[in-house]
Amino acid sequence: MADTGIESVLSENRVFDPPAPEAVGAPRWLISSMDEYRAMHERSLRDPEGFWGEIARELHWFQPFERVLEFNPPDARWFIGGRTNLCYNCCDRQVDAGLGDQTAIVWEGEPVGADGPEIRRLTYRDLTLETARLANALKSLGVRKGDVVTIYMGMVPELAIACLACARIGAVHSVIFGGFSAGAIVDRVLDADSRVILTCDGAWRRGSVVPLKDNVDAACKTLAEQGHEVSHVLTLRRCNNEIAWHDGRDHDWHEMTRNAGDECPCEPMDSEDMLFLLYTSGSTGKPKGIRHTTAGYMVYTYTTSRYVFNLIPDADQVFWCTADIGWITGHSYIIYGILPNRVPTLMYEGAPNHPAPDRFWEIVERHRVTQFYTAPTAIRAFMKWGDEHPARHDLTSLQVLGTVGEPINPEAWMWYRKHIGRDRCPIVDTWWQTETGGHMITPLPGATPTKPGSCTLPFFGIDAAICDDEGNELPNGSGGLLAIRSPWPSMLRGIHGDRERFIETYWSRFKVEDPRYPSPSSPSPWYFPGDGAKRDSDGYFWIMGRVDDVINVSGHRLGTMEVESALVSHEAVVEAAVVGMPHEIKGTGIAAFCTLSPDHTPDGTEAAEALKDALRAHVASEIGAIAKPDQIRFTDALPKTRSGKIMRRLLRSIAAGEQEVNQDTTTLEDYSVLAKLRESDEG
Ligand code: WTA
Repeated sequence: MADTGIESVLSENRVFDPPAPEAVGAPRWLISSMDEYRAMHERSLRDPEGFWGEIARELHWFQPFERVLEFNPPDARWFIGGRTNLCYNCCDRQVDAGLGDQTAIVWEGEPVGADGPEIRRLTYRDLTLETARLANALKSLGVRKGDVVTIYMGMVPELAIACLACARIGAVHSVIFGGFSAGAIVDRVLDADSRVILTCDGAWRRGSVVPLKDNVDAACKTLAEQGHEVSHVLTLRRCNNEIAWHDGRDHDWHEMTRNAGDECPCEPMDSEDMLFLLYTSGSTGKPKGIRHTTAGYMVYTYTTSRYVFNLIPDADQVFWCTADIGWITGHSYIIYGILPNRVPTLMYEGAPNHPAPDRFWEIVERHRVTQFYTAPTAIRAFMKWGDEHPARHDLTSLQVLGTVGEPINPEAWMWYRKHIGRDRCPIVDTWWQTETGGHMITPLPGATPTKPGSCTLPFFGIDAAICDDEGNELPNGSGGLLAIRSPWPSMLRGIHGDRERFIETYWSRFKVEDPRYPSPSSPSPWYFPGDGAKRDSDGYFWIMGRVDDVINVSGHRLGTMEVESALVSHEAVVEAAVVGMPHEIKGTGIAAFCTLSPDHTPDGTEAAEALKDALRAHVASEIGAIAKPDQIRFTDALPKTRSGKIMRRLLRSIAAGEQEVNQDTTTLEDYSVLAKLRESDEG
C-alpha cells in the first residue's frame, strides 16, 4: 500500500494449539474450541443487541435498560435508559450475595523487611467499607456527581479505592500516572477543570521515594499562576517522607476517612454517565482526555476479563496484571473488569527488579498467581536479566499468560512461553487501546491456536478488517489500515472538550457508506485506531504499529510532538524533530534531532554531552522520565520538504543507523542536510 507505506516483514510459521485445561491446572476452558468461538463471534455480530443484552443482565442494575444500542456515527449509546453503578458491581454486589468475606484485592508492597514484604488482603466487605468512607470524605469536600477528581498516587490499594469511591458517587476520575511530572499534572487538571486532587506523600520505586506530593504542590503553584485554584488536596501517608502542608487546602487521608461515615449508598448512574477521563498521547502536542461512560465500559471489561483470562470464581484463581493503574490496562484489568468476576486481583507496588530481578516470580510463587498479564518490554527485560531468575521459582500455578501494549517480537513470545509458561500455558496477545476500553483482537486461551507475534482474531462483537482509505477490504497478506466496522460497548464516547478532534482522529479516515448506518459518509461509521496491520492466510491479525506520529515506548504512547515541544521549551533548542528508533528493551526508543540557538552551541564534545544530559533532564521534568530521548543529535538544519514539512521517514532511517537511506528523497529541500545529519554524533 503506497499511501501508508505499510509493509509486512514478518513471516512466522509456528502454531501452538491450546492445551487441555488439566495441563495448566485450570478447572475448564470457558470457550474450548474454535467452533464455539466462531459460533459466538458470528452471533455477536449478527445480533449485537441480543448478545450484549444477555451478558449485561448478569450484572446488577438499579433500573433495567430499555434498549441495548443506538448508533449515530460517531455517537453510540449503550444500554439506554438503564441505571447501574460500577462500584456496586465491583464491591457491594458480592457482599449482598453473602460473599463479602472473599478476597477482592491482594496487595504487596515494594520494600522487603526482615519478615518479607508488607502484604494486605482486602475482602469485598473491606473494599465496600473503604470506598464508602472515602466517598463520604469526598462528599464532605464538596465533590458532587459529574465533578472531575484527579488521582495521582502510587500503586497502593487506596488508589483502587479512590477510583471506586469516585464511581460510587458518580464523580469522574482522571488518574495521572505517578511517573509523570508536575507539568503533566498541570495540563490535565486544567483540561479537565478539576478542583480536587488525591495523592500520596510519596511512592516507592526501586527502593527510593518518588515525591508525589511535592509534584502536586508544584503543579498547584503553576495552576494558581494560571488562575486555576485547586480547592482540596487529600494526601495518603505511605512513605512518610517530608512534605509541605498548605492549611485549608491540604487534608490528611487517614484522618478524613476515619471521621467519615461507613454508609454511602451507590449513586444509580445513567448508563451513559461519564465514569472516567484518561489522558493519552495523540499526534498533536496536547494529550487528549478519552471519555469512558458507565454501563458499556462495565459490561465489556467484565466480558473480556472473563473470556480472555478464563476467570472462574471459587476456583482458587489469583489474577495479576502488572500494569500501573495510571494506564488503561490498570483501569480495565486491575479494577473494573476483574472485580465483578469475583477472582482476587493482585496489585504490586513497585519495580520488577527490586530488590532482585526475580521479584515478579517470587510474587507469582508466593500468591499462587494463576493469570499473569504484562508487557513485551517487561518480557524483554526479563530475557536480558537471565533465565536463572524465573528458573528458581515454582511457577506451576500459572494457567494463562497475557501481553499488551505493543507488538511482541516472536523471540520474546517464545521466551515467555518457555521460561514463564514452561511450555504449558497459552499466551494471549491482546491488542486494544485506551480508546477501546477493553481487548479487541485477542486469542481465547482454550480455543485459539496461537502464533508468536500475532494477536490472532477479533473478540466477540468486534468487526475488524484490514482496509485501504476507501474502506476496501484488502486481501490476506497485504498490509493496510486496521478498521473496526461496528460499535462495541466500551468504545470511547469522545475526547474531553474537543468534538472536532474526536471526529477527525477516529471517525474520518475511511470514506465509506455503510448500509447498516444510513447517514452521511462523514463522520465515517467505521472506527480508525491509528494502527497498521495485516492478516495472514488464516485470517490472523498482525499489528505493524502506529501509522501516525505516535510512538510506543515500552508500551506507553507518546506523541512525537509532545517531546518536541518539551525540547523547544529549553532555551538552547530552536527546532526539534523526534522519531522512534528500534530499541532492544523498550521496543521503540526516542531519537531527537535538535537545531540549537547560536548562543548555546556547545564548544567541544564535553559541552555537547552536558547539554544532551540537560535536555534529557528537561524533558523528564516537562513530561516524565519515560519521555527522555535515548539518542540526541545536534544538527544545523532538519531535512524538510519544499513545503516545509519535516521528513520524518528520513530521520527514522538515520536514527535506526541505516547506512543507505533507501527512501525517496526527491522532495528534499537541501541534500547536504542529509549527509550532515548522518555525521552528527549520536548518544
Ligand atoms: C499498541 C494499551 C500490538 C497499538 C492497551 C495501540 C499493541 C496502542 C498491542 C494503544 C498488541 C497495544 N499488539 N500493538 N497486543 N496492544 N498495542 O492506548 O499501537 O496505551 O494502538 O493502550 O498500543 O496503546 P494504549
